[in-house]
Amino acid sequence: MRNPPSSALTVARPANAPAAFLNDVLSGLAGTQKAIPPRWFYDEVGSRLFEDITRLPEYYPTRCERQILAKEMERIVQLLGRSRVLVEFGAGSASKTAELLKHASVAEYIAIDISGDFLRQSVDALKDRFPHIPMHAVEADFLQPLELPASVRQRGAAGFFPGSTLGNLSEAAAVDLLRGFGEALGPDAALLLGVDLLKHESILLPAYDDSRGITAAFNLNVLHRVNRELQGNIPVCAFEHEVRWNERLSRIEMHLRAARDMRFRIADRCFSIQAGETIHTENSYKYTARDIRLLLRAGGWNVTGQWTDANGYFAVLAAERIALTCARD
Ligand code: AVJ
Repeated sequence: MRNPPSSALTVARPANAPAAFLNDVLSGLAGTQKAIPPRWFYDEVGSRLFEDITRLPEYYPTRCERQILAKEMERIVQLLGRSRVLVEFGAGSASKTAELLKHASVAEYIAIDISGDFLRQSVDALKDRFPHIPMHAVEADFLQPLELPASVRQRGAAGFFPGSTLGNLSEAAAVDLLRGFGEALGPDAALLLGVDLLKHESILLPAYDDSRGITAAFNLNVLHRVNRELQGNIPVCAFEHEVRWNERLSRIEMHLRAARDMRFRIADRCFSIQAGETIHTENSYKYTARDIRLLLRAGGWNVTGQWTDANGYFAVLAAERIALTCARD
């Protein structure tokens, strides 16, 4: 076992995690449009590939978000308030967190991610840099109901949801998630959210189909993971990475396209796919500034600050939870 330092509240890996993966894959491949939800990208290999993506010249979101956080830090820190518990959803490498911990007055840091070992390494690195801040790594799927330590509600919390991870969700699911964050974080919560903005497809498409093929490897890794963890025999090399801009729904879609007819097995079940048919693996919604304000409001949050980078590619928003008694108007 890797050594989680004794001060870390390390929530055991959910015992039903492999069953959840199997369920999602079996039901996802049974439909007319085959699909595997994007949370299954992030095993150890996938989490590392995603880190490589964030450093690609074509993948602008991470750089833009960093630029905004650096430039607006003073105002952001003011809006987040003092002595809060900082709760990061989908923390991954937690590479933007150090900047916040350096400037904000954070009483405690809780990082939540589905990729447990990867997360623990990230939190350990932060602990070395900020030994005075108590830190907890929670291995969990933040789409499922979350039980956070009592200190969150006692001390007041600020949620941190960077990277446009929200963009993986449909509008309805995004609203539900934002409401769930409010409930988990408590009545006086603040939220710091990063989202990718709508822009021309000549910029969007290369960001998801880079010239070095890292995004392709990231997409294809989910099939390798099925083979590794669910006793599959999918011929992965007969699938191709495909990216589409869906104008009507304002989202990038990633698919895995079958280059030929295939039959394969996953955990004793047989599947077939025809040449040209795809497995839909990810949506990445792109928002206007107004879309995201409305989405936050529907999810129970009022925007208190909103910033973009010099190109207007990405937005960071601060919000406060709408008090239940004045949720009208
Ligand atoms: C982590 C969901 C924000 O949609 O840009 C990057 C994932 N997929 N390249 C995104 C991703 C392909 C990323 N999010």
